[in-house]
Amino acid sequence: MLQSALLNVMVKAARRAGRSLNRDLGEIENLQVSLKGPANFVSLADKRAEEMLYTDLSKARPGYGFIGEEGGQREGADKTHTWIVDPLDGTTNFLHGIPQFAISIALQREGTVIAGVIYNPANDELYTAERGKGAFLNDQRLRVAGRRKLNECVVACGLPHIGRGDHEQSRQELTEIQNRVAGLRRFGAASLDMAFVAAGRLDGYWERNLQPWDMAAGQIMVREAGGVVSGIAGNDDALITRNVICGNEFVHGELVKILKPLGT
Ligand code: IPD
Ligand code: CA
Ligand code: CA
Ligand code: CA
Repeated sequence: MLQSALLNVMVKAARRAGRSLNRDLGEIENLQVSLKGPANFVSLADKRAEEMLYTDLSKARPGYGFIGEEGGQREGADKTHTWIVDPLDGTTNFLHGIPQFAISIALQREGTVIAGVIYNPANDELYTAERGKGAFLNDQRLRVAGRRKLNECVVACGLPHIGRGDHEQSRQELTEIQNRVAGLRRFGAASLDMAFVAAGRLDGYWERNLQPWDMAAGQIMVREAGGVVSGIAGNDDALITRNVICGNEFVHGELVKILKPLGT
């Protein structure tokens, strides 16, 4: 795979922040964990990684806007380009030493995501995608899974935790989906859930109440791997509704049929 200059910038930044996360993973007890809300943790690891990403990305592309989970929105002179960054997606996993977390970087141009990088530094899996150029895991081109029978599919979801989301709605969703699929998973890092769909490891994924930085890179990853991404209504924009369903065309359609009646 020949990497463009843009992806090169994103990958280098992700790898440097990834080394920082790996160092911090070895000293979780020193990370000054605090709560932004119920079960909504933030630590020095999140903050250090975000600062590194901001420094590297804004040095390489001066003037681009920057939206990061921990630093909020930073305006740039260039109003057409915006980085959308989650410096540590899966903080709860990270703080428990569970190696399912990632750095997620997307670049939006005039409202459209044109490139995405998702990097899990714990196992060195690097997912990259550029609009019209395909999605890759390391050097391997990705393609969503081809299954067309829901009862053979493995599907992942996100679950609302204490203090967030509609738990009753979530229970209804689980009941409906559990009855129809071969396996249901909850891994705890939205960006990697979407990367797994792109890689064909998962047949589908849905979650409500996400933020743009959880899924902007995942969205281009799945689309460039031939999959479909939307909100719960099926034809809406996940980045706007903040709910997501993705999979191959068939699985996406089936998940929409089941989940849409429970609320969009
Ligand atoms: C969280 C993870 C998790 C999802 C949550 C997100 P964070 O992101 O992606 O899988 O269920 O909704 O907030 O806070 O660890 O970056
Ligand atoms: Ca968070
Ligand atoms: Ca996140
Ligand atoms: Ca985060």
